[in-house]
Amino acid sequence: MDGRNRAMIVVFLLCVLAEIPAKGHILDVCATCHADATCDDKPDGAGKVCNCKYGFVGNGRTYCQDKDECQIGASKICGQHATCHNTYGSYYCTCLAGFSSSNNMSVFIPNDGTHCQDDDECRVVGACGGGARCRNLEGSFDCSCQLGYRVHDGPEPFNPHSGNASCRVVECGQAATVEDAVLLSLTGTTYSSVATFVCEEGFIWRSGDNSSVCGADGGWKGPNMVCEEVDCGAPPSLPHSHPMWGHGSRMGTEVVYQCNSGFHNVGTGDVSTCTSAGQWEGPSMLCQDDDECRVVGVCGDGARCRNLEGSFDCSCQLGYRVHDGLEPFNPHSGNASCRVVDCGQVATEDAVLLSLTGTTYSSVATFVCEEGFIWRSGDNSSVCGADGGWKGPNMVCEAKCGPVPFIAKSEVMLHNRSVVIHRCVGGYRSWRGSYISVCGSSGVWQRATLRCREIKPPVNHLFVLNEKCLRWRAEKYEEDKEVYQVTYEGSREYQRSFHDRGRQHLSSKADQLELCLNLLPVTNYSISITALSSRFTATISTNTSLTVPPAPVVYYREFETPVPTLRLRRSPDTLDPISLYQVFVLPVEGIVMFDCSSPASSDISSRRKSSTEYITAQIDVGHLGREMNFTVGDGRYYGGFFNAPLQNGRNYYIIVRAVSQWKSALKSACVLWAKVRGTSYVLRVSSLSAAASIGLVAMVILGGYCFTWYARRFFKRT
Ligand SMILES: *[C@@H]1O[C@H](CO)[C@@H](O)[C@H](O)[C@H]1NC(C)=O
Ligand SMILES: *[C@@H]1O[C@H](CO)[C@@H](O)[C@H](O)[C@H]1NC(C)=O
Ligand SMILES: *[C@@H]1O[C@H](CO)[C@@H](O)[C@H](O)[C@H]1NC(C)=O
Ligand SMILES: *[C@@H]1O[C@H](CO)[C@@H](O)[C@H](O)[C@H]1NC(C)=O
Ligand SMILES: *[C@@H]1O[C@H](CO)[C@@H](O)[C@H](O)[C@H]1NC(C)=O
Repeated sequence: MDGRNRAMIVVFLLCVLAEIPAKGHILDVCATCHADATCDDKPDGAGKVCNCKYGFVGNGRTYCQDKDECQIGASKICGQHATCHNTYGSYYCTCLAGFSSSNNMSVFIPNDGTHCQDDDECRVVGACGGGARCRNLEGSFDCSCQLGYRVHDGPEPFNPHSGNASCRVVECGQAATVEDAVLLSLTGTTYSSVATFVCEEGFIWRSGDNSSVCGADGGWKGPNMVCEEVDCGAPPSLPHSHPMWGHGSRMGTEVVYQCNSGFHNVGTGDVSTCTSAGQWEGPSMLCQDDDECRVVGVCGDGARCRNLEGSFDCSCQLGYRVHDGLEPFNPHSGNASCRVVDCGQVATEDAVLLSLTGTTYSSVATFVCEEGFIWRSGDNSSVCGADGGWKGPNMVCEAKCGPVPFIAKSEVMLHNRSVVIHRCVGGYRSWRGSYISVCGSSGVWQRATLRCREIKPPVNHLFVLNEKCLRWRAEKYEEDKEVYQVTYEGSREYQRSFHDRGRQHLSSKADQLELCLNLLPVTNYSISITALSSRFTATISTNTSLTVPPAPVVYYREFETPVPTLRLRRSPDTLDPISLYQVFVLPVEGIVMFDCSSPASSDISSRRKSSTEYITAQIDVGHLGREMNFTVGDGRYYGGFFNAPLQNGRNYYIIVRAVSQWKSALKSACVLWAKVRGTSYVLRVSSLSAAASIGLVAMVILGGYCFTWYARRFFKRT
């Protein structure tokens, strides 16, 4: 019995004793408390109450029963990995196997935070045994083997406390073997031991690894080396030699070399051996060329010997040529040989042989020109060349025709001893005939018939005739038709707007040509003639002179009024810009003379004093239309002239004069326009020089009757 139980028993006894005196008296509450209860003050202070002790449950008086704390579950009351143990009025906890309490006591009550925690079995060295790895688990542990070890007598992982499993070192046993190879070294038979191999003699390591390693699984890894039997292959070729080889190429095979023909060995040995390394070894032979040309006469006569590598050839010396073969040749193969060159017969045209030293190489033949010929130039000898041909002679023998014929204005273009070709000198052209002179066999030149003519322009001697016709001479070599194009252009200084252009064509075979053009007066012309086939153009300038201006058409009338109105009609003319009309008034007194060509000028001051005639008006033609009405005596000025009134009772003739003037030239034409009547005189008109261009008109007034007849005739003529 422990202390607590003993105390409980004491308390029970005291209570039994205390109850006894209370019987029959005031109820002593405390005396009624259960032995496993305590008597406590009520919370409100009004008396006492019985409460079951800690670890008990009940009403505190009649019963207090032990409470089983473990009933609610060991883990709930003790925590994880623990077992709960109930005691009378209390309980305690213990840890499960593999766990221990955190306060290191075997029994605990968790109220101070004590709990069960995992034990680390692996902390114990050698817990798993040799060659093993320990692994701690919750509440336990297990073991597995390290590299190079394998589990023995059980599965992996294992627990050494259950079963006999343990780790033992890996053992690969005897090293593997390789075909055609032998083991060279071995470091052991356990894990990671190494075995090294080499190929057998006569074999060569071609590929793979030469070592084998003991693996963790107890097996050898490798070797995977491949050993092949030695094969030296074909023996190497040596310069100027050939091997005597039976086609074996294994180790130890021997090959004998022989120098090619034309060569001999100056080195050491002539055998090559196939070594274990798979290579041919030796010989250090050296085949050197034989010099066949040292043998005198090996090529034969007239030949040059040339040593070649392993051979020789022959070629002919100067003056010799190869016979029965090609050069160079080898006398051992074929029949070729050198023979002396022979040029054979020598001959040339127009010359005869004078002397000959032979017909072989470098022989000389000398020539002279044939009879009737003369040696002009070149070499008169011929030499037999190395090629078997004669060189020359290149002598030139000319027939004795004498000097080349002379043709005027020609030169010699080509000249050999029988033929001369002539041609015209510059500026001249051949005109029919042959241009070759031939030296005839009779020694006389047959002259060329060519004639050389000066080359002249096709349009020549061009001139202008009578101010309107062109004349020229055609220079042609044949009777061909030539087409001429004539263009002209006229201009006037006094009339800038004036242009007279024209073009005409003429086609003719003639040598003398004439073409008349419709040229206008008082104009400067530039005229071109182009010969179309020869594309030649000749140009000439000319001018035309002043002609008599056209007189107007007048309506002749006789008036009996001092202010007669006269009419005229006219046609425009190219001379209009330099033309004017003058109206003359001739008082009729006795015999009236009027000279149309005078006065020469329209100048007022030059008016003749002797005559009573006067100019009453002067009108520029350029301003006139086709018609004009003019009233005589209207008292106005026309062109600076006063149109004075006519005197009553007098007779007058009115004359209109057309005047054209350019510089010093002046031409005029006159027409009787009207008669103003007052008397009965007769007018007679006579023309001194009719239509002969100077325009001198004289009028003799005889009587009124004759006038009409003359005037009409006058009009018709103008
Ligand atoms: C084996 O191979 C290694 C690497 O390939 C080489 O260095 C070594 O010399 C070889 N051993 C023999 C014996 O051939
Ligand atoms: C001279 O030249 C002419 C023309 O070229 C030719 O036909 C002729 O054969 C030549 N004569 C000689 C001897 O060369
Ligand atoms: C013609 O040309 C000459 C020289 O240029 C000139 O003096 C003259 O006035 C010209 N004649 C005409 C009608 O234009
Ligand atoms: C007009 O031509 C003639 C002859 O061709 C010449 O003598 C005269 O000087 C020329 N007159 C002018 C003005 O050119
Ligand atoms: C001139 O006079 C005539 C008759 O009186 C008339 O018919 C004509 O139109 C006139 N001409 C001019 C240009 O005045």
